[in-house]
Amino acid sequence: MILEEYLFEKRQLIDSTLERYLPPEHQYPEVIFRAMRYSVLNGGKRLRPVLTLAACEAVGGDCQVALPTACAIEFIHAYSLIHDDLPAMDDDDLRRGKPTNHKVFGEAIAILAGDALQALAFETIAETKGVEAKILVEVVRKIASAAGVGGMVVGQVADVISEGKQIDIDALEFIHKHKTGALIEASVVVGGLLGGGSAEQVNALSLYGSKVGLAFQIADDILDVEGEEAKLGKRTGGDMQKQKLTYPSVFGLSESKNLAQKAVEEAINSLAAFDERADPLRLLAHFIVDRES
Ligand code: IPE
Ligand code: IPE
Ligand code: MG
Ligand code: MG
Ligand code: MG
Repeated sequence: MILEEYLFEKRQLIDSTLERYLPPEHQYPEVIFRAMRYSVLNGGKRLRPVLTLAACEAVGGDCQVALPTACAIEFIHAYSLIHDDLPAMDDDDLRRGKPTNHKVFGEAIAILAGDALQALAFETIAETKGVEAKILVEVVRKIASAAGVGGMVVGQVADVISEGKQIDIDALEFIHKHKTGALIEASVVVGGLLGGGSAEQVNALSLYGSKVGLAFQIADDILDVEGEEAKLGKRTGGDMQKQKLTYPSVFGLSESKNLAQKAVEEAINSLAAFDERADPLRLLAHFIVDRES
C-alpha cells in the first residue's frame, strides 16, 4: 500500500466531516463560529484522526463508526493549538502558515473558540452510531482523561513551568508523555475500541500509540531546531528562545533522532500480532518521524 494515497483518501473524508460537524458561521455572534472554523479548516496533517481510523480498520472495524470520534479528537487538537499559541503560553504568531487565532480574532475570542471546540468534541462523539453504549462510555472516558489532567493539560503545565529550568530527564519524559503522547495514544486506542478490537488488541494499540506519541513530540522538537518555517507553517527556534525542556536541549540532535527511531521500531514491534490491515499504522509510525511538516 502507498501511504500518500491512504492519507489523501482519509484526509478528504475527515475534512468533509469536520466541516459538517462545525456550526455554520452565518449566525449571531458570527465571530466565534468564524474563529472555530478558521482554526479547524486550515490544513494540518490530521494525524490524530487518521490514526483513529487506521486503528479501527486494523482490528477489522468499519471506519465510518469511528469517524465522529476521529473528528472530535481533531477538535480537541485544534483547541489545544489555539491555546498553546496564546501570548500567555508560547506566544506564537504563525500556525499552519497563517496568523494564529488570537492574531486574527483577539485573545478573548481565541480562548472562547478553544473552549467551544473542546465542548463540541464531546457533542460530536455523541453522534456515533452502531456501537454499544458501554464502549462509547469508555471512549469518552479515554478522551476526556487524555485531554485533561490525565494528559494534555498537565503536560502543558509541566512544559510551561519547566521553561528556563535546569535539565531534568524525568520532567522531560513527563512533558512528552502527557502534552502530546496521551492524546495520540487515545486516538489509537479509541479507534481499536470502536472497531470492536479485543482487549489484547487494544493493549497492543495502546503500546503502539504511546510509542508513536513520544516519537511524534521528539520529531516536533527536532523540527523546531532544524525544520524549515515555510514547510512547517510555524515559527522555528522558539523552544530554544524560551528555554523549553526538549529532547534536543537535553540529548542533542543526533541522540534525539536515535531515540525517535527507537520509539518507532518499538511501536511497529507492538503490532506483531496484527495482519496487513495494520500496514497503515506501520507506515504512519515511520511518517511521524520522517515528516518535514
Ligand atoms: C502540533 O501538532 C502540536 C503538537 C502536539 C506538537 P501537529 O504537528 O499534529 O499539527 P498539525 O495539526 O499538523 O498542524
Ligand atoms: C504543544 O507542543 C502541544 C500541545 C498540546 C498543543 P508545542 O508547543 O511544541 O507545539 P507547537 O510546536 O507549538 O506546534
Ligand atoms: Mg507549547
Ligand atoms: Mg507551541
Ligand atoms: Mg513544538
